[in-house]
Amino acid sequence: MEKRNVILTGFMGTGKSTVGRRLSSRLDYAFVDTDEMIVSRDGRAIADIFSEDGEAAFRAWEAKVSRELAGSSGLVIATGGGLMLNEHNAHLLSQEADVFCLRASSDEIVARLAGEPDRRPLLNVLNPAGRIQQLLDSRSEAYGRFTQISTSGRSVDQIVEEIVRCISVT
Ligand code: S3P
Repeated sequence: MEKRNVILTGFMGTGKSTVGRRLSSRLDYAFVDTDEMIVSRDGRAIADIFSEDGEAAFRAWEAKVSRELAGSSGLVIATGGGLMLNEHNAHLLSQEADVFCLRASSDEIVARLAGEPDRRPLLNVLNPAGRIQQLLDSRSEAYGRFTQISTSGRSVDQIVEEIVRCISVT
């Protein structure tokens, strides 16, 4: 039987890459991180793509890797927090896949996102906590389209097991 991909989406700092890596070993699937794909294809850090070419250039990379990954199988794919908010990307990647949206409270996200400006230029502003809240508000409806997995107060293994249970009943 063909292994359907598992896609992880959700806001920055909700643990998509950490959970994705652990889930891929648990399922014996390969692991892919779309931000890492973009950095390795482009050769620059995400912050440099944003500052030198603009956000639109980064979103074009996301569209490109989504096309590349469409039709694949047996992968756990951790997506950058904005990738699945684009309907075209979401359509391409969701076809043969189970999609899960990791959730955390804004306080937890603020605490987890201290640092890492190279990967998260959207938060490289004077008031990152305010920006996080603003982005969470504007994205909440779009994230709400996917199966929700709460990460609050839970270990990586607990989150992985919940996703495995969801996959086995679909
Ligand atoms: C983004 C999230 C980041 C990265 C880029 C834009 C977003 O990935 O793709 O900075 O728009 O939410 P993570 O969600 O892995 O932090």
